[in-house]
Amino acid sequence: MQNEQYRPGFHFSPEENWLNDPNGLCYLDGEYHLFYQHHPHSKIWGPMHWGHAVSRDLLHWEHLPIALFPDDNGQIFSGSMVVDEQNTSGLQIDDHKVMVAIFTYHSDKEETQGIAYSRDKGRTWEKYADNPVLDNPELKDFRDPKVFWHHDHWMMSLACGDHIRFYKSDNLLEWSYLSSFGEKLGAHGGVWECPDLIRFDDKWVLIVSINPGGPNGGSAIQYFTGDFDGEVFSCDHEGETKWADYGRDFYAAVTWSGLDKPLWIGWMNNWQYANEVPTDPFRGTMTIPRRLSLENGVLVQQPVEVDSLVEESVQQTVVLAETEAFVETVPRQVQVKVAVSSQESRFSCVLKGENGELIIQFSPERVVFDRRNSGDVSFSEMFPSVDTMPCSSIEKLQLLIDDSSNELFINDGKYVMTELFYMKGESFEMKWMNEGQDQLEMDVVTERIGALQPTGMK
Ligand code: FRU
Repeated sequence: MQNEQYRPGFHFSPEENWLNDPNGLCYLDGEYHLFYQHHPHSKIWGPMHWGHAVSRDLLHWEHLPIALFPDDNGQIFSGSMVVDEQNTSGLQIDDHKVMVAIFTYHSDKEETQGIAYSRDKGRTWEKYADNPVLDNPELKDFRDPKVFWHHDHWMMSLACGDHIRFYKSDNLLEWSYLSSFGEKLGAHGGVWECPDLIRFDDKWVLIVSINPGGPNGGSAIQYFTGDFDGEVFSCDHEGETKWADYGRDFYAAVTWSGLDKPLWIGWMNNWQYANEVPTDPFRGTMTIPRRLSLENGVLVQQPVEVDSLVEESVQQTVVLAETEAFVETVPRQVQVKVAVSSQESRFSCVLKGENGELIIQFSPERVVFDRRNSGDVSFSEMFPSVDTMPCSSIEKLQLLIDDSSNELFINDGKYVMTELFYMKGESFEMKWMNEGQDQLEMDVVTERIGALQPTGMK
């Protein structure tokens, strides 16, 4: 642990080497499975494997052996996981339910979809003998299958460059094409990846990662709200692009299968500099898992509760005149919750380390996140940035800071911004300043998050 650089405490990171997208998210018998794009021999993206971990509380993760290795069909790119409850695939041979992974084979030649299965709750894996199960219809990009059970069959969403395709199957082994969505809708500044079609009561949301072309540059996640009739997805906001998170570091998020309510996790990074971030001996972390809901057409994200990890909680009511500031020392792992008295307030939060600071400015129109001088920014010229999120009145904030990341949830998760930073120091100084003309009253709860079993050590 001593020589590890920027190891998060309560966010998932691999023991060593490279990680990108979450894959195969699945809940079975009390265990949340998290697979992930992994290069086990380097901190640079390379031949993709599926790394694997499980958790019972979404905070403590146990590392398990690599689940899927590249084979003659190609590397193992992103994909999803289902439990084949009714044994539609015929792969179940005794009482044990089969977990089926549906993933992309990526080779120099093409991308196709393959499957693998486990009869022992994900501990050992077998590739299906007749892979691939879905051939390529001559598309350069044909990847990231997300499968779910809908009425009496399986549905797959697949990313195909500038659109999403939907496929259907009775048995996970044979797939037929249904429809395409999105060629002329939403943002198209980059390639579409990692789709997920999620049901919220009577509404549907189609998640689409896009790289580059995000609102603040590089990788980001857009979503479409609308309807799905079992064959075709239709969107109810043509001409408007909706973004899940305005920060630079939220990508490839998808939901867990096997749960009643949608829950997702994302890769906390951006392809613009992911291969250069100064962490060691690993590179790549996940976000905190977030519960999803849909409110008036807006995707709302609430981080899972970290209360069980809180070792000390201090509540303070602060009244600040114009330009007055409130300063406290916070640990590198901290949750801060703030309630603001007036929704018209203008204020800032400066988080200062030994070699820099990051500044977040709040106003009733926007939030601006400035990490130009946030310590180590020199590893990539794409990293230092000023990032903006449009928003209306701010009532409540929740910041989850974990060593080198900051996830900001506003008004109970209606606006979200996730950003990395790399600052030195045993602890940080956190300063709240009133930038408006009226008196500002803030209720600040600072919660120190205790040390977890290090996720990184063997
Ligand atoms: C998204 C992505 C996927 C692909 C994987 C490769 O970050 O590009 O489209 O399957 O990463 O590692």
